[in-house]
Amino acid sequence: MKGQKASAVFITSPTYHGICSNLSEISELCHSHGIPLIVDEAHGAHFGFHAQLPNSALQQGADLAIQSTHKVLCSLTQSSMLHMSGNLVDRERICKCLQMLQSTSPSYLLLASLDAARAQLGENPRTIFNEAIEMAIGARDQIGRIPGISILDFRSFSAFPVIDPLRVTIGTWKLGLSGFEADDMLFREYQIMSELVGTHSITFAINLGTRKEHVQKLVLGMKHLSNALLPMGIEEDRVQVCHCAPFDDVNISLNPREAFFASKRRMAISNCLGQISGELICPYPPGIPVLIPGEVITRRSLDYLLQVQREGAVISGASDPLLSTLIVCNV
Ligand SMILES: Cc1ncc(COP(=O)(O)O)c(C=O)c1O
Repeated sequence: MKGQKASAVFITSPTYHGICSNLSEISELCHSHGIPLIVDEAHGAHFGFHAQLPNSALQQGADLAIQSTHKVLCSLTQSSMLHMSGNLVDRERICKCLQMLQSTSPSYLLLASLDAARAQLGENPRTIFNEAIEMAIGARDQIGRIPGISILDFRSFSAFPVIDPLRVTIGTWKLGLSGFEADDMLFREYQIMSELVGTHSITFAINLGTRKEHVQKLVLGMKHLSNALLPMGIEEDRVQVCHCAPFDDVNISLNPREAFFASKRRMAISNCLGQISGELICPYPPGIPVLIPGEVITRRSLDYLLQVQREGAVISGASDPLLSTLIVCNV
């Protein structure tokens, strides 16, 4: 609000696709105003452990960084780390907040796995990612040369100059395929498991468990898709559709508490225009809610939801996953 100082700046970097913000500049700007920078670095626990990996959030001046150690490093699922630096953030306050949120019965399995992940990195901190990075560069190079396939790289984003080399995002729209369709074919015919599927792309994570034969299989699978589909030509309308989530015309009619306690009813989706959503509906990817409880349902949000559902996105949160009906608030 005007005249009020922000308590903190919160940024997600890298994104799930590995795109990184310029945290050095952002932290400098924050600190010049005495504001702490908090970074969701869930996908970046390996940053700073190789010359070709981006620097970590803490190395770039962040005050707090939260890493899902289990995502890229080798600890057990659910184990994460909260890192702190500098003295802008009060450590005792952080401990108190954690006490409020955490169980009083920590899992020693998870803690031991975090320690093992730390030890694994500590043994070869400069070289442990050598092989993975070499394989990822090779994969990008080979896949990027396959006709009809594109690779996401930092040249696509002038404002985001760094990308995690271990995330390889492959565009399949020039083959007339949605990411969901391509992913399905790769899994059925080559048993290739992706990390993340989108409307236009598939993202693969190359890491400490990846072997050369996995990369060869991926390259082979992509060549197969290209050979099979490119000669069939591309349907123009499939290439040009822009699947932008309708986030810029949000109209909230009830606050979260009012919406939570409001009585609700189920309605056919065709009648929901202008009603107030009673549920949180979040296609994945991108994993950002399109409707939250209390939000007025617009034509754009309905069209978007139905479109991504047709293309195979998982619609999480919807009580009717087929989206024939929605829950709306009675007001
Ligand atoms: C950007 C981002 N932040 C946070 C999380 C949550 O992490 P965790 O599953 O370790 O709770 C995720 C999960 O995928 C994520 O993608």
